[in-house]
Amino acid sequence: MIELTHVSKCYGKESILNDLSAMIEKGKLTACVGPNGAGKTTLLEMISRLNRTDSGEIYINGGEVNEWNSGNLAKTLSILKQSNQFTMRLTIKELVSFGRFPYTKGKLNEYCHEVIERSLVQVGLLEQADQYIDTLSGGQLQRALIAMVLAQDTEYILLDEPLNNLDIKYSIQLMKIIRELVDVFGKTIITVIHDINFASAYADNLIAMKDGKLFASGPVNEIINAETIQSLFDTEVEVIERKGKKVILYY
Ligand SMILES: Nc1ncnc2c1ncn2[C@@H]1O[C@H](COP(=O)(O)OP(=O)(O)OP(=O)(O)O)[C@@H](O)[C@H]1O
Ligand SMILES: [Mg+2]
Repeated sequence: MIELTHVSKCYGKESILNDLSAMIEKGKLTACVGPNGAGKTTLLEMISRLNRTDSGEIYINGGEVNEWNSGNLAKTLSILKQSNQFTMRLTIKELVSFGRFPYTKGKLNEYCHEVIERSLVQVGLLEQADQYIDTLSGGQLQRALIAMVLAQDTEYILLDEPLNNLDIKYSIQLMKIIRELVDVFGKTIITVIHDINFASAYADNLIAMKDGKLFASGPVNEIINAETIQSLFDTEVEVIERKGKKVILYY
């Protein structure tokens, strides 16, 4: 479980996260939703210790994040960032191999090669494994980055807009992979997602953020209704139900 208690963060005078307390349930898929600038990326950065809180605590399996040993944290929690830049010329396979670094410090063993291959198969890039990443389409690069996170094989996986650049086929495929990681492999996954209907169809729980504050949280079916979604996004929506899932209509 991940527990956040009274987490706050300011940049200058601007409050980015404001006294945020939340629980991320173990073995579940939690979708983090909310308008642009709400603080979703900042929240994921705090949980993964890429960024420091000003106050408040974040507990991962009971240990405060700042007290975790870096090596152990990298074997426990991985993050797919919203934007990624590379200065090196790498093949897909080399990129995905970085996911094994916490275990091997660069010396890949036989098990690593198995995990890397499995990750490439999962995202449908095995045949392009030797292609350079600077020659990939946006969606292929996104899938390669996801394979790197899969290769890290951690208990907690944080994904910041993993559907970026993916077409509908690969979006659905990725949501199914994420679900399988939770249901079959027992992972705990938090994903920032803008498509509220993907959140509704696939997630167990929602964390809705607005203006750096927790706006609502709980099981998807309890949180999603027209009133909540409308005031979260300041946008008129209609919510209908189909096959037991809520579908949000907006134009
Ligand atoms: N390093 C920084 N310095 C100053 N302000 C920052 C910094 N990083 C983020 N912010 C501000 O913090 C706020 C929250 O940013 P964040 O990236 O967490 O939002 P988000 O919810 O992920 O938005 P999006 O949906 O657009 O990705 C924004 O107003 C942003 O401008
Ligand atoms: Mg963001």
